[in-house]
Amino acid sequence: MISVSVMAPWKVPLADVRLPEEDIDAVAETLRSGWLSMGPRTEELEEALARYTGARHALAVASGTAALHLLCLAVGLGPGDEVVVPSMTFVATVNAIAYTGAKPVFADIAGIAQPWLATSSVRAALTPRTRAVMTVAYGGHPGEARALRDLGDAHGLTLLEDAAHAIGARDGGRQIGTLGAGGAYSFFANKNLAIGEGGALTTDDDEIAERVRLLRSHGMTTLTWDRHRGHASGYDVVARGFNYRIDEPRAALALRRLGRLDAENRRRHALDVRYREGMASIAGVAPTQPPPIGDGALPAHHLFTVVLDRDVDRAAVRAALAARGVQTSVHYPPAHLFSIYADGAPALPHTEEYAARTMTLPMFAGMSEGQQDLVLEALGEALG
Ligand SMILES: Cc1ncc(COP(=O)(O)O)c(C=O)c1O
Repeated sequence: MISVSVMAPWKVPLADVRLPEEDIDAVAETLRSGWLSMGPRTEELEEALARYTGARHALAVASGTAALHLLCLAVGLGPGDEVVVPSMTFVATVNAIAYTGAKPVFADIAGIAQPWLATSSVRAALTPRTRAVMTVAYGGHPGEARALRDLGDAHGLTLLEDAAHAIGARDGGRQIGTLGAGGAYSFFANKNLAIGEGGALTTDDDEIAERVRLLRSHGMTTLTWDRHRGHASGYDVVARGFNYRIDEPRAALALRRLGRLDAENRRRHALDVRYREGMASIAGVAPTQPPPIGDGALPAHHLFTVVLDRDVDRAAVRAALAARGVQTSVHYPPAHLFSIYADGAPALPHTEEYAARTMTLPMFAGMSEGQQDLVLEALGEALG
């Protein structure tokens, strides 16, 4: 196996993409095949993703953001609608709602160690205009998705899932992203199933799937691939769609990586357990996202996030870790405080406190115990 490390300057990067030779072969074979835009490998990937997630339909697209946008459009969101969404997420979650003309309404997270959307905060944010709730599987953790689905059912609301972090995560035995009307996954370069840029959408709803299929390719009734195969000769345009298609080299890479995903997520789980053990003796820091308990629960462990004590200088800790070659990050600056969304946004005390005190440590399936020990040692020193 040849490993290609793309993040050489760090001894321990936040995320690292290891591409075995077989993956590179699969992409090279696709490049030599004479067909690069959405075609047979994409179809194969969609079938594999549907089998893997248990969803009736899986549709591969250009990015997680495209999947979120298409999902919001396909469930009919538009001007006058409100969608409750966490502020503690990547801004793409919120933008996707806003693209449709619907209004994102921010709600708080469950607590300083539970950085996921709180059902109680969602309930308090409901108005007669609320049409949907967008939950985010923060760090690959299911959070309160099941309680949110029950709340949605009780109020006639659509549950949408941003499962960008959560491919392979299960709750009650079900893949995260398949609990509500639809789920959006990201295959961006730092994600559990990283291919560069890409994403997918899952749904059990035939109409949503049909709408997404149409809108991801300009609203055209046939695909270039269909015409190439002689399955169609012309097309009509029945909606104002987009070019949100994935391409064949990326689909080929995603297919290869999907076969290893469970093993890689199990490795992430082992690293998560080891981080928690190693951190127990370090004062001033505590891990967040406690692993869910119960039948069929398995987080994807996309991020390993910690919360620092109030009196700890986070910038100094991050600088000390960087000096030892350990990359850190902050997930996330809260969306409701960005200039574009700040006007009229509510105060979200847990989100704001979490955002001020959290730090993300390296987490990737290929991380060695030696690398993890370096992170823990550097953290212990910085806080000592
Ligand atoms: C929570 C969340 N939602 C949406 C996205 C958007 O995904 P993409 O970068 O594939 O467009 C990302 C990641 O980038 C994310 O972390």
